[in-house]
Amino acid sequence: MSINVHIKGLGHHVPEKILSNQDLEKIVDTSDEWITSRTGISNRHIVEDETCVDLAYEASLKALKKAGLEADDLTHIIVATFTGDRPLPSASCLLMERLGIKQKAAMDIAAACSGFVYGLETARAFIALHPESKILVVGSEILTSRVNWKDRSTCVLFGDGAGAAVLTGDDGAEHDGKLLDVVISADGALSMALAIKGGGSALPYHLGDNVGEEYFIEMRGREVFKHAVRNMASISKEVLARHGYTTDDVDVLVPHQANQRIIEAVGKKLSIPVEKVFSNVSRFGNTSAASIPIALSEAKEIGAIKEGDLVLVTTFGGGLTWGSALLQF
Ligand code: COA
Repeated sequence: MSINVHIKGLGHHVPEKILSNQDLEKIVDTSDEWITSRTGISNRHIVEDETCVDLAYEASLKALKKAGLEADDLTHIIVATFTGDRPLPSASCLLMERLGIKQKAAMDIAAACSGFVYGLETARAFIALHPESKILVVGSEILTSRVNWKDRSTCVLFGDGAGAAVLTGDDGAEHDGKLLDVVISADGALSMALAIKGGGSALPYHLGDNVGEEYFIEMRGREVFKHAVRNMASISKEVLARHGYTTDDVDVLVPHQANQRIIEAVGKKLSIPVEKVFSNVSRFGNTSAASIPIALSEAKEIGAIKEGDLVLVTTFGGGLTWGSALLQF
């Protein structure tokens, strides 16, 4: 089914404070050399007192401004996150309140790092049903609130940030680009490879309990690495094939910014030359659901994505979940 979905505006926002590899050397037994050689990450932005919705709000204002729309023009707010301000209410309801609007549809998406791409597909479905929709899709994460700062194998990987996109159907106005297609997938059999085991109904909090390490991110890194590369590459080929494209047609590949080695391995598996692969992981670390919209917004802003470019987005995250999107600017 062909649906006309336009990207009207993109925006991103990261907190001011930077946590460098040298700062991490003072917290855990690690080194700048280990982190950069294994992950390509040098810095990440981290919050001091801002919340997920604070970052989402700033990114949303920028995306709305680029779109030339007021918050009240929106019909739906979708926030992808697993680090919302509170378990209840949703981050999207809090964001709506912050934007000073009401009586819009609001929902959060739980697909970890793939959440923004899942959000794009959800927006496409809403636009197919209601072509007049104007939808804000946000990825916003405070990963540092769920990191075990004593676990050196995970705490060096993550950062905080938010990115947002405003999507519409055909409205006769100018647009940044077009969302041609999205494909999403998951495999729950691998759920414990990247998980926060505690804090849900399977392992609830009890009043007065100590907060143990099961309430923070745990990951089987090598296993996740392998699945990430394999699934991002295969779903990318799938979305391209649906439109008769091959990887030769791709002008810019925007992969989930998890790790430079994963980014390079995906590019290589798709035979997309390194100069066409966008990466900002060295400055932001892995910001989960915020990673793709931050990368798209920044790539557009600095001219790494130009008018006429065919952009392939691919993502991977806890669940396990993965997906790809095809954009034409
Ligand atoms: N500093 C120094 N040493 C560290 C370290 C750190 N921050 N973290 C782990 N190590 C050590 C380990 O303890 C291990 O030591 P040992 O050999 O004495 O046991 C050694 O480094 C190698 O660990 P290993 O897990 O084999 O490293 P790796 O090459 O697989 O790299 C990751 C680890 C996490 C960087 C890598 O597996 C990865 O990128 N996985 C995917 C992670 C990801 O992006 N997840 C999110 C997807 S959304």
